[in-house]
Amino acid sequence: MKRVDDFRLRLGKHELVPIMIGGMGVDISSADLAVEVARLGGVGHISDAMIKTVSDRRYKTKFVKDKLALYKYNVENEDKSAVKFDLGKLVEATRLHVEEAMSRKKGDGMIFINCMEKLTMNAPKETLKVRMEAAMDAGIEGITLAAGLHLGSFALIEGHPRFRDVQLGIIVSSVRALQLFLKKSSRTGRLPDYIVVEGPLAGGHLGFGMDWAQYDLATIVAEVIQFLKNEHLDIPVIPAGGIFTGSDATAFLEAGAAAVQVATRFTVSEECGLPEKVKQEYFKASEEDIEVNQISPTGYPMRMIKGSPGIGAGIRPNCEAYGYLLDANGKCAYVTSYNREVALHPEARKIAVMDKTCLCTHMRNFDIWTCGHLTYRLKDTTRKAEDGSYQLLKAEHIFKDYQFSTDQKIALPE
Ligand SMILES: Cc1cc2nc3c(=O)[nH]c(=O)nc-3n(C[C@H](O)[C@H](O)[C@H](O)COP(=O)(O)O)c2cc1C
Repeated sequence: MKRVDDFRLRLGKHELVPIMIGGMGVDISSADLAVEVARLGGVGHISDAMIKTVSDRRYKTKFVKDKLALYKYNVENEDKSAVKFDLGKLVEATRLHVEEAMSRKKGDGMIFINCMEKLTMNAPKETLKVRMEAAMDAGIEGITLAAGLHLGSFALIEGHPRFRDVQLGIIVSSVRALQLFLKKSSRTGRLPDYIVVEGPLAGGHLGFGMDWAQYDLATIVAEVIQFLKNEHLDIPVIPAGGIFTGSDATAFLEAGAAAVQVATRFTVSEECGLPEKVKQEYFKASEEDIEVNQISPTGYPMRMIKGSPGIGAGIRPNCEAYGYLLDANGKCAYVTSYNREVALHPEARKIAVMDKTCLCTHMRNFDIWTCGHLTYRLKDTTRKAEDGSYQLLKAEHIFKDYQFSTDQKIALPE
């Protein structure tokens, strides 16, 4: 019987254990996790979501405080279009985070960065370009373009000296999205080095509508593999979303996938950036506690635990400090919803905003507990203590369980 370790992922001159840990913003897929996965021979991701906040927390910079000081005059203003990112500081924050992770890297694996293109930052092209270029300058080995695939992204960085040497990957949820991307980026003469096919059971934002349950990862992966074959394109395909055991992963590898991308099982690892209390919420969650809703201002459905403190919290938007979701016109759907509720309840001291959430603030504070559909199975991957708490796992334990297990078995920790 085959297991994941019988396969290898080839990317450039690298030969890797075919396990990629997906990017999880904001700093949930931490540098600690990525470094550990690289040591074990797989691919780990850091994330550049809210990079200035991450830098402040990790490297004692003051980017957020400085930005807030600069735009303090605008805090009460309904119009956020004036709130811009300083590109130089964005570069500095990205460099710090990437350099720190790369300097600690050991082993044969690789460290990539997840760039969410839906972080439009009130100047989508300019900010994405500097984020990607700064990551390349700082030595990142790969960039995975996620959430909101901006079709011109490769062209934004084609002038960079590392454009052809860095691994560039995309995340798609359909053959159609892949076709569009390939058509649009063909002018650069640069194909993606790998394609993550993310199905409807993934964590974070989904590339599906609210009818997500009608789709199935295995079917989409088979369609993508067939499409690439028809086009005579040899690009590794990496399924993601709901791959919970080594056997699940092996089934995809036997069906022609080059690797798998997983995330949910690592949310309860010691190395994961979530606070310990939140990790316990992930362990405790039952299937009924997990929902896909439309409160993300990005417009994409998002999966989360229903008890997330950020749901319904009508806080004042924090665009002057953060502002990562302001679109090209300086608008964010949460700001619109918040302003509407304030206008409807002029006397209220506290308001609720149910249709959208202030994702920047709540992700920064770990108050939106985004998760994969199979989070409810995490409790079966560990031991429960007498006080009712669950034992956190080492990333190495989870990684090796994927790598070596067979027969749908999940190894419990010592
Ligand atoms: C907590 C959490 C946060 C995530 N955040 C992101 C993100 O910032 N960007 C992204 O592209 N994908 C994100 N994802 C998706 C994962 O990278 C991955 O593709 C997917 O969750 C894999 O499925 P699994 O969680 O069932 O293993 C996130 C997933 C989780 C569980």
